[in-house]
Amino acid sequence: MHRRFTTSLRYSVCLATLSAATALAQRSTEAIHVDDANHVFRIDAGDTTYEFGANEEKRLQTIYWGERLSEQDHPQTPKAAPGMSSFDSSRNTTPQEFVAWGGLYVEPNLKVTFPDGNRDLDLRYIDYSMRNGVLSVQMKDISLSILVTLQYKVDDATGIMGRRALIENRTDKPFIVESASSATWNLPRGTNYILRYLSGRWAGEWTVNDQNVKPGKVILESRRGSTGSQNNPWFSVRKNDTAEENGDVWFGGLAWSGSWQIAIEEDAVQQVRITGGYNPFDFGYHLKPGATLETPWFYAGHTSHGLGDASRKMHHLEMDTLVPHAPREKLRPVLYNSWEATDFKVNEAGQKALAEKAAAIGAERFVMDDGWFGARNNDHAGLGDWAVNPHKFPNGLKPLIDKVHSLHMDFGIWVEPEMVNPDSDLYRKHPDWILNFTGRPRTEGRNQLVLNLAREDVREYISSSLDKLLTENDIAFFKWDYNRNWSEPGWPAVAPDEQKNVYVDFIRNFYGILEELRKKHPNVEIESCSGGGSRVDLGVIGLTDEVWPSDNTDAFDRLRIQNGFSQAYAPGIMMAWVTDSPTWVNQRTLSLPYRFLSSMQGSLGIGANLTKFTPEELDTSRKMIAEYKNIRETVQRGDLYRLISPTDGSEASVTESVSRDRQQAVLFAFLHSSTELYPYPRIFLRGLDPDRVYALRAIEGKASSDTPTSATGSYWMHRGIDVELRGDFQATAFVLQGASH
Ligand code: GLA
Repeated sequence: MHRRFTTSLRYSVCLATLSAATALAQRSTEAIHVDDANHVFRIDAGDTTYEFGANEEKRLQTIYWGERLSEQDHPQTPKAAPGMSSFDSSRNTTPQEFVAWGGLYVEPNLKVTFPDGNRDLDLRYIDYSMRNGVLSVQMKDISLSILVTLQYKVDDATGIMGRRALIENRTDKPFIVESASSATWNLPRGTNYILRYLSGRWAGEWTVNDQNVKPGKVILESRRGSTGSQNNPWFSVRKNDTAEENGDVWFGGLAWSGSWQIAIEEDAVQQVRITGGYNPFDFGYHLKPGATLETPWFYAGHTSHGLGDASRKMHHLEMDTLVPHAPREKLRPVLYNSWEATDFKVNEAGQKALAEKAAAIGAERFVMDDGWFGARNNDHAGLGDWAVNPHKFPNGLKPLIDKVHSLHMDFGIWVEPEMVNPDSDLYRKHPDWILNFTGRPRTEGRNQLVLNLAREDVREYISSSLDKLLTENDIAFFKWDYNRNWSEPGWPAVAPDEQKNVYVDFIRNFYGILEELRKKHPNVEIESCSGGGSRVDLGVIGLTDEVWPSDNTDAFDRLRIQNGFSQAYAPGIMMAWVTDSPTWVNQRTLSLPYRFLSSMQGSLGIGANLTKFTPEELDTSRKMIAEYKNIRETVQRGDLYRLISPTDGSEASVTESVSRDRQQAVLFAFLHSSTELYPYPRIFLRGLDPDRVYALRAIEGKASSDTPTSATGSYWMHRGIDVELRGDFQATAFVLQGASH
């Protein structure tokens, strides 16, 4: 018997905007198809087909993942692969959907130690069900009452699937889950793959790395208790003839903000497997009888249109499905943030003066950063005491918030809820609330310790402090910071064999607070910041509205940082501030238009000390912000084309954003340094409607004198544009406005 289910993980499809995503949604039959006789599951969505099934041994294995197939074609009936030799059994050579450890050398998805010492696990398919667009496929161990449910959901527009596993203890004793990951993604067998991943450190996040996939294993991970910038939980694997705009790419990301791991493994039979989930390092989840451990969603998709399309598919998933506020209704406001201007020296008069300047140049949101609470005069004290500092704000926050509102901006504020300074009332009252091992040193980072949010009393304290702040003040936005990693992840208050549950329970409570706050205060918006870009992942993106990619606000460095960020994440959630020059980072001087154009490729913010701006600088800022408002829908929600990457070795860097209806395109071009009289490379646009006429208008700088003021999309894409850029750190930008049909 064949059954077809209609499913979708899109919960807020608005078809009003004629978009590429919508066009895809309409083309898609959006279905999960089950062949009951052969136990085969097939998912067709977007441009992609995914097929898996239970083989003759009732083990689940991947059959196909790639370009969408015709409905008549069925790649094969699942059949366990033969073993290679006495050294590599069939269980190792079969591309299993979810690998339970037992007789295996490949990366497992699940490894358990049972109370009697048994560590063998052998999961077989038993049944499936469909609910709310999620396909659940159940497996059970051959003799023990441990049930594993593999869940699948699919985004009909992009074909990106979400997978996770639910591990249920139906025995009558607790057991320890030593490692648990969400899914294994099996690529077509082969050796010609290139892995792309992101690495970094504070002030140098989002470096793009490419390397050949070779026999053996590459581990991307965080052992830090949070996402981390050293690796980001995102991958792409491509064939070695794939380029930015053509060729096969398999890509994905993990929706988890705690310690994580993604393993990219080429096994003994040249099968490339990508396995991701909780980091097995120091893992050991104590699972009580009747309890279920959920692994994070692991999203992944395929395109045959290159790395650029892989990124655009991720961007669509994030903007249309994951972020909580439907941004098609609500674009990111232009915000002002006080951090680089005032540091910890905030007070009512100073913030009001900045607010006036910010409003005058067109900011729509005013955010007061660190320093407003407790004894917070520097980073040595006050974290944890979320009461307004009475010396800096003798009448509370109301006078400042009223002032901000009278200037037609909304008000946002900085918080760092999971941290505490030892010099704080909170720590003095609850020294036992922090992550630590009894009798061992408690390492400080930026003079602070990490509260153990896995504890219910800590969760309650954080949740009620933030709720109180939102209830008592008209606050539209939290910048939620997290400025260090874990060092001694002990939880002495619970039994030793339950202490490692902290890796899961901490993050579940973090997500729980975000969910609760959003429910109680549906209009509040939240930015995920972590000393820069250390907490950016698909999990936190599902509960916040924007993220902070880096504390490095040098507009030239940002070109590289933003290029890396855009591999995985959408410009619409990427905060980018214009700050003072020379920047604190490199002591480099950059013109104000250059700094604006760099930031206008994302969600624009201003972080400069506006009280020191000259009238001319304020004028330029006003003009640039007005320009940004005209193009922000295209930048934030449109399709990004990385025309020339800042890391490909040339002196140029060019991005283009095209609106979903292809009515408007915006082009940003930067020159690092002219050399040897070479002209700037000609720019060939992409993604335009070839027959539509687009008028060209400069936001800044100019095109060469022989450039027409209007031409068809075909002309701009094939003849291209020559721009006049010469010198060091130069920038130009253009709008191409399409005539209505
Ligand atoms: C972190 C953030 C900064 C700023 C400071 C405040 O470093 O990334 O933007 O908010 O904290 O202490």
